[in-house]
Amino acid sequence: MEYLKLSNDVRMPVMGLGTFLMSPAEAEAAATAALAAGYEHIDTANAYMNERAVGRAIAKSGIAREKIFVSTKLWPSVYKAGDAAVDSTLARLGLDYVDMLILHQPVGDYLAAWETMERAYRAGKVRALGLSNFPQDKIAEVIERAEVAPQLVTVECHPYHQQRDLRAYLEPYGTVIEAWYPLGHGDAGLQQEGVFQRLAEKYGKSAAQVILRWHTQMGTSVIPGSKNPAHIADNADIFDFALTDGEMAEIARLDGTKQYYKANKAQLLGYLATRPNFDAQD
Ligand SMILES: NC(=O)c1ccc[n+]([C@@H]2O[C@H](COP(=O)([O-])OP(=O)(O)OC[C@H]3O[C@@H](n4cnc5c(N)ncnc54)[C@H](OP(=O)(O)O)[C@@H]3O)[C@@H](O)[C@H]2O)c1
Repeated sequence: MEYLKLSNDVRMPVMGLGTFLMSPAEAEAAATAALAAGYEHIDTANAYMNERAVGRAIAKSGIAREKIFVSTKLWPSVYKAGDAAVDSTLARLGLDYVDMLILHQPVGDYLAAWETMERAYRAGKVRALGLSNFPQDKIAEVIERAEVAPQLVTVECHPYHQQRDLRAYLEPYGTVIEAWYPLGHGDAGLQQEGVFQRLAEKYGKSAAQVILRWHTQMGTSVIPGSKNPAHIADNADIFDFALTDGEMAEIARLDGTKQYYKANKAQLLGYLATRPNFDAQD
């Protein structure tokens, strides 16, 4: 495993398991397989409706709590709930604290929600704070108002959409970028790109492993999602080879090919209006 140092000196394992679109049973099985394969970092969210399952996998792993970096996200419909939003998230996970707490979407009263997260941070319920899907102007708005600046920003990021502008903007703050959709949400075309096929052959790795290595060499955190125990193990086995500067430059040329997700204003307002009962999960 390799680690990133967040701006508040918290050590974050550079790769972890993503659990988006997993049922509770799938998330529990995937997190169990990941922890058995040596993962030290699991990502979930209120909206994935699998926080309880992730908590069960952590509890039954027998691994010491401080050896697992747990990340979750508050959904916009709970931004107004204040401290209760954090406390119910912790209760579902069965944890006293999380390592990373993230505002999931830039809609609703996210500034008040940021203050809620700062309170949780000061109370020791959270070790670091992040933003998800926030465009640069809204990140700037949070930084301007914050007492605790975001230690992490998570956004769609992969070789087809490399987030160069955001990287340059965040650099002075020491804010880490975490890539969601690090493998292009499983887009076979991405893995079949000639450069990845060639480098996979050269290093005796899969194309997915080469892509994940590219991310981590860029200093980006990755949370690939997988329900397949073989893929889960492979995705952590990326630290015994290094791409050359020339190979990194070749991959850089794929930037701008494709962005898979872009929420418009109506979608964002829809997120705010959706009020799932997060406690109603297995
Ligand atoms: N903050 C946000 O708004 C946001 C949005 C989306 C996602 N996320 C987070 O980011 C995580 C990753 O996103 P994602 O899971 O949607 O996409 P992804 O990690 O880019 O891709 C997942 C897909 O890749 C396949 N895969 C994984 N490892 C592989 C390997 N070694 N070889 C070949 N195929 C492989 C998986 O299939 P198998 O199951 O068959 O392995 C799955 O279909 C999520 O789980 C979630 O935690 C956050």
